[in-house]
Amino acid sequence: MMMMNIRTPLPVSSHNCCFFILSFFIFFIFTKSTTPSHNYSDALTKSLLYFEAQRSGRLPYNQRVTWRDNSGLTDGLDQGVDLVGGYYDAGDHVKFGLPMAYTVTMLSWSIIEYGDYIARAGELEHAIEAIKWGTDYFIKAHTSPNVLWAEVGDGDTDHYCWQRPEDMTTSRQAYKIDENNPGSDLAGETAAAMAAASIVFKKTNPHYSHLLLHHAQQLFEFGDKYRGKYDESVGVVKNYYTSVSGYKDELLWAAMWLYKATENQGYLSYVIDNADLLGGIGWSITEFSWDVKYAGIQVLASQLLADEKHTKHKDILEQYKSKGEYYICSCLNKNNGTKNNVRFTPGGLIYIRQWNNMQYVSSGAFLTMLYSDLLQKWKRKSLHCHEKEVTPQELLEFSKSQVDYILGSNPLNMSYLVGFGPKFPTRVHHRGASIVSYKENKGFIGCTQGYDNWYGSSDPNPNVVVGALVGGPNHNDQFNDKRGNYMQTEACTYNTAPLVGIFAKLDYLKNENEVLHFSY
Ligand SMILES: *[C@@H]1O[C@H](CO)[C@@H](O)[C@H](O)[C@H]1NC(C)=O
Ligand SMILES: *[C@@H]1O[C@H](CO)[C@@H](O)[C@H](O)[C@H]1NC(C)=O
Repeated sequence: MMMMNIRTPLPVSSHNCCFFILSFFIFFIFTKSTTPSHNYSDALTKSLLYFEAQRSGRLPYNQRVTWRDNSGLTDGLDQGVDLVGGYYDAGDHVKFGLPMAYTVTMLSWSIIEYGDYIARAGELEHAIEAIKWGTDYFIKAHTSPNVLWAEVGDGDTDHYCWQRPEDMTTSRQAYKIDENNPGSDLAGETAAAMAAASIVFKKTNPHYSHLLLHHAQQLFEFGDKYRGKYDESVGVVKNYYTSVSGYKDELLWAAMWLYKATENQGYLSYVIDNADLLGGIGWSITEFSWDVKYAGIQVLASQLLADEKHTKHKDILEQYKSKGEYYICSCLNKNNGTKNNVRFTPGGLIYIRQWNNMQYVSSGAFLTMLYSDLLQKWKRKSLHCHEKEVTPQELLEFSKSQVDYILGSNPLNMSYLVGFGPKFPTRVHHRGASIVSYKENKGFIGCTQGYDNWYGSSDPNPNVVVGALVGGPNHNDQFNDKRGNYMQTEACTYNTAPLVGIFAKLDYLKNENEVLHFSY
């Protein structure tokens, strides 16, 4: 089994002074009757299957999601570029560059932090494959230093049709950014994804790792030099993935990941010198998403403080950290005043907005778990929030509570991770899953035929899109399992990505607790 280069491992050695304290709290968390636990290793396995269901292009011999077949085999052809591959982001067949890259960044971050646990659960290779399916595509899409293909297909045309990807008849026009049509957010996020992935591949595939890094460096330079919002250059992305927060966060995010990948001081200086100018230490924010990366940057900056060699940048890094802690405290509902905190459903779920709310839950669960690790690493007893001191154990418990809600500990007893547990959404807003598998029936299903015969059906989907995390319940924990209810029943690749590492760590902690049970 491959072992990864883990940057911030949990103290698992019994020689570590914190082991007993930590173990006690794990014991506590996993035995309290109010906090049930789930089969996290099963959830982990399933989460990685989802990325196979979302694959575009020619599927490999070891494809495990067998209701899918090849699709999008002429993507890019009209533009004279090979854009076959990559991921469909959600329930349609547009390949959107920005969320795809963010998905790959978060998958890579999951492995960088929790790769040991993923390996222990026997899923590391699948996790790495999920990253590579994305990075292979980014390599193709980055055709010259200052050209990056941003999108294939367009939302408007795509949404007129309800078809299997294998039958697709909609436009597959590709759109790019370049020097005259800049897109610093897209270039920055793709650079971040490739830099983060280069860390993942460093040991196991150094040649590929170098290649990714090379692309990442060029993309960052391109994005930094030719500044602009990609949705101004690629109009078809508007209404789908408009970069509301602009590109400043992605530039910092890219530089941060490049620093992590290279330890090149130039990238660190960029993060430090532009901290104010690019909003890194100005934004107090309660959302971390495909659009808004500040909280992620701030947590990464906080991690740097744990390393003595960064002492000379302590001032600025502390300012990043303080904004990062604002985000963490907001998730715990421990900032002062409602507007400084996230909202929660009565059942205890983070609630940011009605459309695809679960993306904010999984990203919030990820950062709070990371922060719990960080406090333990610093041997800090607590995080000072305005309303309360929050212990690392409380952070871990909070993260777990969000994951447990996702997996079925909620007022409806519904797992929002498709295919997990006894009750989960059966009418996911997903073209491929809602129509008979191409493998079973190769008869062409047309654009409107799909709407007439499959979309409107009240039957469950014929194919289960296992591992997809759907948009989830409303502000009142209610969920309407209807295909047309896309705000709640559509899933996205970036919803599941942050869960991969969390599932693995919770699986580890749960098993650790079973060991402890015997010793108590
Ligand atoms: C968890 O799920 C896996 C895969 O379905 C299964 O093999 C295992 O027995 C389950 N573990 C427990 C404790 O139920
Ligand atoms: C959820 O499960 C609990 C415990 O088994 C049960 O008391 C409750 O009625 C269930 N709720 C729903 C909506 O099924």
